[in-house]
Formats: sequence, structure tokens, C-alpha cells
Amino acid sequence: MSFRTIRILTLVLTLGSGPATADQFTPGEIWPDDQGKHINAHGGGVLFHEGVYYWFGEHKISGGRGNTAQVGVSCYSSADLYQWENQGIALAVDGNHRSEIAKGCILERPKVIYNSRTRKFVMWFHLEHRGKGYATARSGVAVSDKVTGPYQFLKSHRPNARSWPIGYDPLKTGDSSSSHLKRDYEKGQMARDMTLFVDDDGRAFHIAASEENQTLHISLLTPDYLDFTGKFTRVDPGGNNEAPAICKHDDKYWMITSGCTGWAPNEARSFVADSMAGPWKSLGNPCEGPHPSGGIGPDKTWGGQSTFILPVHDKPGQFIAMFDVWRPKDPIDGRYLWLPVTFRSGRIIVSHPSSWSIPE
Ligand code: GAL
Repeated sequence: MSFRTIRILTLVLTLGSGPATADQFTPGEIWPDDQGKHINAHGGGVLFHEGVYYWFGEHKISGGRGNTAQVGVSCYSSADLYQWENQGIALAVDGNHRSEIAKGCILERPKVIYNSRTRKFVMWFHLEHRGKGYATARSGVAVSDKVTGPYQFLKSHRPNARSWPIGYDPLKTGDSSSSHLKRDYEKGQMARDMTLFVDDDGRAFHIAASEENQTLHISLLTPDYLDFTGKFTRVDPGGNNEAPAICKHDDKYWMITSGCTGWAPNEARSFVADSMAGPWKSLGNPCEGPHPSGGIGPDKTWGGQSTFILPVHDKPGQFIAMFDVWRPKDPIDGRYLWLPVTFRSGRIIVSHPSSWSIPE
């Protein structure tokens, strides 16, 4: 064999075993976009619109400063879910320090939904004002006429001021799990880790960690998706869930969450309900099976934390569980675990193959 043939063969073998191929997910590996750069869309979610998937997520930079928003929200597009084209920054942070979304604020877990009545794309995200750590606990909303943006920031909310959760009686005695709920009744409830969910009837829900991260709130949004209606429900009061992700399958609503340990992984949880308003039944850890290369096991979500459950278009019953593996010392190097979801014996199950493809 000539030296040239050996070189070509080596190249073919190297490319063949590389992390990203055109028709496979390789969870946890570097995931190059169309420009060969690791995708930069952390804590994200995906919107399917007119034949194309759009992935929105936190744009991160290297080093400690990367844990705050220095750039904004990224957008990528894809027709097949494997190969992603960088569409640039959909929502930019503001150079004006007085802006609510000033450069250096904390802007996490952005999600975008489409409102077919107003024909607007609506983005919600967890917002912490610049320099205030995680004390602000608000949810921001931005809109655009075009899916890829630019999105225009409208305002931020403390949800559901002067409303009690559906079926909740504030006068009930012996209710120790709702002191924060009562504290925030007047000024609105806290909102940190969040996601959005649009039901088949077009109603949109905002799901966020509230009450000092003790209790998740599921809130019905107004028909334009830009505000809260005051109708909300509590999930697992006092259960310390965050990183919510939701899907609908077989007329049931399924939710995956994590516990609250910051950037460090913990054991995931799952829930099921017949209605978004609950009651939500706890199903335990949805992650099953070892890490394919002997890394952190399913008892700590293989090192990841949930962010979204992505329904595969035109393939009913097929979903991808999206998790982030955070790298808080070098946030731009955070990895993505996109993993197959199955439903078995009344449970939602997630496994971690070393590589996999969406079944035909
Ligand atoms: C996690 C949360 C992340 C980020 C982080 C900061 O618990 O899910 O989105 O807020 O805490 O420590």
C-alpha cells in the first residue's frame, strides 16, 4: 500500500469514527454546527415550524463570566435534527446597563413558541437582573415576526400576582409548604428554571421553579402567549424540582425534572398527569441503564440535567429527551445529551446509548 493510500484510509477511518455523523446522535460529544463549531445553545428548547426545527438556547462564552449572559440567545436550524445551521443571535443582550436584559444579566433556559392567532414567535426565559445573583427570579418575554429573530424584549414578570393556585385554600391550617407562596401573593410568584408547553387546543403553559425553588408552578398564559392569566397549579409542593421538561403522549402529560443542586448533576424525577392542571403523580427517576463509557450513572442523570422533551415531527410517540451537561468553569464547552425516550409500564424511560438514530 502506498503512503498516499494509507493517509487516505486513515482520514476515512478518523472521519468515520468522529463524534458527529450526519445521521446519528453522539450524546456528550462535541457537536459541530455547519461552520464546524460546537453548538452554543445551552438550556435550550426546540420549535418545529413549517418543516424546520429551530433550536434556541443560551449562548455561552469561556470562563466564569460565561455563566452570565454576555451575548444572548442563539438560534440554530435543522431539517433532520442531526445537522444544525447557525442562524446567529435571536435575542441580543442590551449594551445599556439600565436595561432589564443588560449584558451580564442571567438569561437562562429560553424557549420559543408560535402563536398562530397573532402570527408572532414568542420567547420566554428565566431572567435575573445584572449584578443581583439569583435574587430577581423573574420570567422575561420577547417577540418576533420571524422565527430566527431578532426578538424584541417586551417585559419581565413575577407571575400570578394576587391569584391563588387552582383549588388552593389559603386559610387551610397546618399548611407548612406554602409560606413562600403566601409571601409572594401580592407582588407575584418567583420564576426560575422554566419551559413552555403548547397543548393541542393552542393553550400555552409556562412551567417554572417557584417558591424559592421548592415548588413548580404551571401557569396558563393569555391567548397571545404574552402574559399570565392568574390560573396556575402547584406540582409536588416542597419537592424541590427544577429544570422542567414536558411532553404529551397517549393523552397524558409527562414531565421530567431535576433536583436542585445548581450546576452539579443529581437524580432526575418524572411525573405524569391527565391534565396540565394536575394532579401530577410522581414516577421516580426516568433514567435507566449505565453510561456507555462508564461515566456518571443514571442515578445522577449521566452528568446531565433536563431542559426539553422534543417531539419528533411526523413520528407519533417518538421523543428526544434533551439534557445539558454543564461546564460552569468553561460554560461554552457544555455538552448535550439528546437521548431516546420510551414509554413502558406507565412510565417514561430515558436511556443513554453511545450513539443512536431516530427509528425509521
Ligand atoms: C441550576 C439551573 C441552571 C442554573 C444553575 C445555576 O440548578 O438548572 O439553569 O440556573 O442552577 O447554578
